[in-house]
Amino acid sequence: MNTQSKPKILVARAIFPEALAKLEESFEVRSNQEDRIFSSAELQKELASVVGALVAGSERIDANALANAKDLKVVANISVGYNNFDVPAMTAAGVMATNTPDVLTDTTADFGFALLMATARRITESEHWVRNGHWDKWSIVHNPLGMDLHHTTIGIIGMGRIGQGIAKRALGFGMNVIYHNRSRLSEADEKACGAKYVSKEELLKTADHVVLVLPYTAENHHTIGAKEIALMKPTATLVNIARGGIVDDAALAHALKANKIFAAGLDVFEGEPGVHSELLKLSNVVLAPHIASATEKTRRAMVDLAVENLRAALSGKKPPSLINSELFKA
Ligand code: 8YV
Repeated sequence: MNTQSKPKILVARAIFPEALAKLEESFEVRSNQEDRIFSSAELQKELASVVGALVAGSERIDANALANAKDLKVVANISVGYNNFDVPAMTAAGVMATNTPDVLTDTTADFGFALLMATARRITESEHWVRNGHWDKWSIVHNPLGMDLHHTTIGIIGMGRIGQGIAKRALGFGMNVIYHNRSRLSEADEKACGAKYVSKEELLKTADHVVLVLPYTAENHHTIGAKEIALMKPTATLVNIARGGIVDDAALAHALKANKIFAAGLDVFEGEPGVHSELLKLSNVVLAPHIASATEKTRRAMVDLAVENLRAALSGKKPPSLINSELFKA
């Protein structure tokens, strides 16, 4: 087959082989199945010769990345969060930006709840305890004692689709749900997840469990730092499934070490895949490698939606999850 006639695209990270094979039917694909992360110079070079690209959070798409991308029409993120995109720069360059909302909402909310339970009930710490041979007898007081979830107050910061999914799960545990968000939900949405809007300060002071699900933006940098942790109850837990940088990890490690709060569960980290060295030493923190959306079904759905976005943009149709919609002229 003559590949010259096919438009050229970049698949910047490893994807499922079937999805890649399908793309190869319609496109000349420069794929990165070895999954090595491109340097910014390499990314700039890769983008220079393609009309579309599938990327993930590891690829920063900014003016520098787009500098030589004369033919690029679309960059489809395999991720709902798109803090790796400089959207104004993409719009200025006429490059459509898309993400993968909805398909990961329930999977991610499930994981947020799982991480909360693991944190409050010390599940991973207990497992290490067993594996390291410390379990010599059952004990009323000396086995790892955790914090209850049921009939406590959960405070959710960031009440988008995933935050609301966590709230609905919390209702099943008889939890009192409070939330803080940039904008208040409609009365109907608040009712559907049984959630009460409060200020960030009130949430931090009253929640037994604080869960972070807000997007990362410059203004959300270090939403939780030493000052905010100081407002929390010493018995409280903190869960971050949002983005590294929302929490000041050094301040959190310091607070956990001093038992200022009970425990934390982290799926995302500042500078990941690096993890703050002090966090690695602590037993009252559950660490996960950014896996909130990681089920096979959901990751396939994310890739499929990203491909659908890319195909639509390259065939003159409106991508289903176009971010910079001003670029689409019907
Ligand atoms: C992605 C995520 O897997 O969708 C998001 O915002 O955090 C994850 O689901 C990850 O960002 C890919 O880089």
